[in-house]
Amino acid sequence: MEKVIGIDLGTTNSCVAVVENGTAVVIANRGGYKTTPSMVAMTEAGKRLVGHLAKRQAITNAENTVYSAKRLIGRKWNSPQVKQVASTASYNIVEGPHGDVRISLREKSHSVPEVSAMVLAEMKLIAEEYLGQEVQKAVVTVPAYFNDNQRQATKDAGAIAGLEVIRIINEPTAAALAYGFGRNIDRTVAVYDLGGGTFDVSILEIGATGVFKVISTAGDTFLGGEDFDSRVIDWLVEGFRDEHGIDLRKDRMALQRLKDAAEKAKVELSSVREVEINLPFIISSGRNEALHLQRVLSRTDFEQLTADLVQKTVDIMRQTLDDAGLHREDIEDVVLVGGMTRMPLVERSVAEFLGREPSKGVHPDEVVAIGAAIQGSALLDDDGPTANRVVLLDVTPQTLGMMVAGGLMEPLIPKDTTVPTARGKTFTTSRDNQTAVKILVMQGGAIRPTRTSSSGSSS
Ligand SMILES: Nc1ncnc2c1ncn2[C@@H]1O[C@H](COP(=O)(O)OP(=O)(O)OP(=O)(O)O)[C@@H](O)[C@H]1O
Ligand SMILES: [Mg+2]
Repeated sequence: MEKVIGIDLGTTNSCVAVVENGTAVVIANRGGYKTTPSMVAMTEAGKRLVGHLAKRQAITNAENTVYSAKRLIGRKWNSPQVKQVASTASYNIVEGPHGDVRISLREKSHSVPEVSAMVLAEMKLIAEEYLGQEVQKAVVTVPAYFNDNQRQATKDAGAIAGLEVIRIINEPTAAALAYGFGRNIDRTVAVYDLGGGTFDVSILEIGATGVFKVISTAGDTFLGGEDFDSRVIDWLVEGFRDEHGIDLRKDRMALQRLKDAAEKAKVELSSVREVEINLPFIISSGRNEALHLQRVLSRTDFEQLTADLVQKTVDIMRQTLDDAGLHREDIEDVVLVGGMTRMPLVERSVAEFLGREPSKGVHPDEVVAIGAAIQGSALLDDDGPTANRVVLLDVTPQTLGMMVAGGLMEPLIPKDTTVPTARGKTFTTSRDNQTAVKILVMQGGAIRPTRTSSSGSSS
């Protein structure tokens, strides 16, 4: 029987699931792990490594090991986000044709979708080994706040990996689906998803009849665990510079070790109050003696280093509630998704803001892939166990409009409109006897108030 797999293509980790006999199962990789690092490497011998194998050799092969490609996907070379990644990454990011981003691995240059495709192909393989059959179709998730370029590039990655991406669905919507599927509940829930690279929050109404309706969604496609790690790296680099007058950022291997140590410290601080970061022989003093890095980081200090990042997520959450026209008392349950929600300050801040303890029922690392698998199975089965039991009503995360004279955007479909939808509006041309118009569709951007007159002008 044909199978559709659900893939959560994460910034840091990816996960694959499939529905079998009406239940979604998360598929473990060969090493027995249910999530696979979204990392790709090329060895000196020209061998391609993906997942744990790539992660394991990242320090010794830093220049040819790619992580967090999702932070680059669908973005242009000259965007501030690409500039930021390019200035701190241990691998090489260069400008390609048409202002695109290219990643070089051992002299060969790859597009970002090509790199993401290597991760998707690995997830496909993990599923095929488990199912004992070839897999062609997949539902792939993206952050709700991804724009059309980022979605299209993710689809391209699927195609390069030999997958037919039958649907792209939003990560928080997938999580809500996994949370509510088959439970016969009728409630308003907030999904707070803070992963390795992105932040999303969605408010949904889940109906007992299997309807999952998104009321509002917001997020930041450049806010996640990586930024928390960066704060620790900065703190370590500055401390080392004060002590030894040496900039560790100049050394790729040192940088990769710092990145590793920073993430490890962050994860440990979710369960202990203090960690010691110890990196012997981190760099040479230049006078033929090795220098060591050794510092203690307390949870309180770490929380101070990252408080503004957590506050940013709370502000976005407040905005989403306002957009939905709801008050915090209207939220009946909170679903936490993403590895970063294990950080005590994050959990505490969400609980404090919404005035309730988050739901404990879902697995923050697996819930998105499970939702994708459920959706995949529902799209495939006409009369199978999941068919007709799921209706997803998602929204446009950002306002869509048209460019009018003066380069301004005339909004046509406001953000949080349930899709599919259609809108019409009459525009007049700016010159007499004009026989052609250029129509430019715009997404997001600064929205100016719509004029009361129904005629904009288009040139
Ligand atoms: N116990 C923990 N405490 C704090 N942070 C953690 C913990 N476990 C994992 N993380 C962090 O969570 C992040 C990874 O989360 P997750 O796997 O959900 O992200 P992702 O799905 O790959 O990314 P995204 O959804 O943003 O694309 C990493 O930054 C990781 O360091
Ligand atoms: Mg995620």
